Amino acid sequence: MSNNIKNICVVLPTYNEAGNIHSTLEKIFLNQTMLHDYKLSVLVVDDNSPDNTAELVRSLMPKYSRLNLMSGEKKGLGDAYKRGIDYALKNLGADLIIQMDADGQHDPGLIPKFIGLAKNYDVVIGSRFVEGGSTPYFSSYRLLLSKLGNFLVRYLGAAYVIRDCTSGYRVIKREILVKCQPSSFPTRGYSFQSWLICELLRQGATIKESPIIFAKRETGESKLSLADQLEFFLNIVRIRFNNSEDFIKYCLVGLSGVIVNLGVYYYLTRFISFPITLSSPIAIEASIISNFFLNNFWTFKARPVKKSFQTRLLNFHLVAGVAGIINYLLFLALVYLVNIYDILAVLLGIAIGIIFNYAGNSLWTFRKEIKKPLINRGEDEKE
Ligand code: GDD
Ligand code: MN
Repeated sequence: MSNNIKNICVVLPTYNEAGNIHSTLEKIFLNQTMLHDYKLSVLVVDDNSPDNTAELVRSLMPKYSRLNLMSGEKKGLGDAYKRGIDYALKNLGADLIIQMDADGQHDPGLIPKFIGLAKNYDVVIGSRFVEGGSTPYFSSYRLLLSKLGNFLVRYLGAAYVIRDCTSGYRVIKREILVKCQPSSFPTRGYSFQSWLICELLRQGATIKESPIIFAKRETGESKLSLADQLEFFLNIVRIRFNNSEDFIKYCLVGLSGVIVNLGVYYYLTRFISFPITLSSPIAIEASIISNFFLNNFWTFKARPVKKSFQTRLLNFHLVAGVAGIINYLLFLALVYLVNIYDILAVLLGIAIGIIFNYAGNSLWTFRKEIKKPLINRGEDEKE
């Protein structure tokens, strides 16, 4: 494939990493001896760190000829990446960009292996959540946050094939990165990472996850703030709406289903005096069927789905049933265990029901038939 990769640029965002940056740079540049065919450069993107990280980097420039520095105002990790990636693509002629933390948590010794893997993939992710990967130093809170974040990106961001969507260690080829236009992302903080992975998938990137052990920070502390966490959760919803017309169509279909349900019920009970105990299930079934037809011939029309029409119809019913049960159980739990106002519980039940419903039908009933495997998760380590 494309083996005309020559310039590799590690984009290294730093904020108060004076205690770690020297050893990280040293380990990165050590790889150059093994990478004969490539030119390895580093771009440190520092946001005027008060601990003088930038001065330290400047003082190391005579030692490393391919060390570059950008300084800016502190706006967040994502903002630093946007500026850094833009600069590396435009001014450093990077054919391959490496995203990495400067604090020693990502092992620079893996760079040659990742570059090798990138011969066959557009993107290589240093993954904490595939076999062989781990986060031995994560607190239980950080682990929970990371798992929850990944779950949401995978199931709402349509990145379900990726195990570690928020990893900060990645190798990305120039062509695909340019297509994503990272500088136009609306993210400022850490949620840049998940936005980028969703966009890469949307652009059809082939992705390989390779295990990493997320090491201990050498010195200093994590900069992940509460604002970053909030931005992350808000952006998940944005990704869903931005990237997928499907979801909006799906919600509109759901709304039409409510009208069908009500209409049929009204007709049966008011016009032909059907008993209400029978009218209700008939009305429900009518709305499930009309929803199915609309989703089949409209929402997911363009999808290459392999399943037969009957199988889809059956799956659709099962998802509706399970979503209904989840909706009901959540309602009960909220009212009786959490003691919230019942109307609010109904609404929350509906919201979770819709999300489950959409996820179930999008990922299962109308599952896209993927012709060649896009993703490879760790089996072919021999490359
Ligand atoms: N320039 C700049 N500006 N750099 C920043 C900023 C900022 O506002 N915030 C953080 N950084 C730098 C740090 O100095 C470090 O080199 C790197 O970005 C990662 O920041 P950490 O604060 O060490 O992140 P973490 O260890 O908590 O989070 C890691 O895991 C996340 C997912 O769980 C990182 O790998 C993240 O990228 C990843 O999303
Ligand atoms: Mn870190």
